[in-house]
Amino acid sequence: MRKVIYPGTFDPVTNGHVDVIKRATELFDSVVVTVAVNTSKAPLFTTEERLKMLEESLKGFNNVEIDHFEGLVVEHAHQVDAVAIIRGLRAVSDFEYEFQMALMNRKLDSDITTVFLMPHEKYTYLNSSLIRNLAELHADISEFVPDPVLAAFKAKFK
Ligand code: COA
Repeated sequence: MRKVIYPGTFDPVTNGHVDVIKRATELFDSVVVTVAVNTSKAPLFTTEERLKMLEESLKGFNNVEIDHFEGLVVEHAHQVDAVAIIRGLRAVSDFEYEFQMALMNRKLDSDITTVFLMPHEKYTYLNSSLIRNLAELHADISEFVPDPVLAAFKAKFK
C-alpha cells in the first residue's frame, strides 16, 4: 500500500490543488491531503474552515483522506506511514523554493521522497492569495475553486 501526503496551507484549496490531487490518486494507493497549522503565513480561513473546505471539495475521491499537522512535514509523513511527499510545480518560478524544501526534507529524513507533479497548464498562474484578493473584491472566482470554497467565501465576505 503506497501512501503519500500532500501538505500545504490550502487557504483555500483551489482547482489547481485538486488537479494535483487527482494526479496523485492515480499514482498512489492513498493520498493524505494535510493542512499545515503553523506556517509563517497568517491564513484567512481557520484550520477548521480549511479542513472543511477540503473534506467537501474532495468527497468524490475514494482514496483521499484529510488531515492536519504541526511541526515537521517529514515527521508527519512518518506518523501516517507515507513513503513520499507530493508537491506541485506550476512554473519554473516554483522550482528553486521547492528544490530547497525537497533537499532539506531529504536531509532531515532520507526515507521520505518528494515527488513533483505538474498541474494542468491552465492553472499555472493560480495561487490562493490571488483567489483571496479576487473574492474580497467580489470578482467571479467560480472557474478557479471548488463549489464549497465559493460558498465559504460568500459566507465570509457577505
Ligand atoms: N494550484 C494552485 N495554487 C497552488 C498550487 C496549485 N497546484 N500549488 C501551490 N499553490 C499555491 C498555494 O495556494 C500557495 O498560495 P499562497 O502562497 O498565495 O497562499 C502557494 O502556491 C504556495 O503554497 P504551497 O506550495 O501550498 O506551500 P505552502 O506554503 O502552502 O505549504 C508547507 C508549505 C506547509 C508544505 C511547508 O512550509 C512545510 O512543510 N512546513 C512544515 C514545516 C517543515 O517541515 N519545514 C521544513 C521544510 S524544508
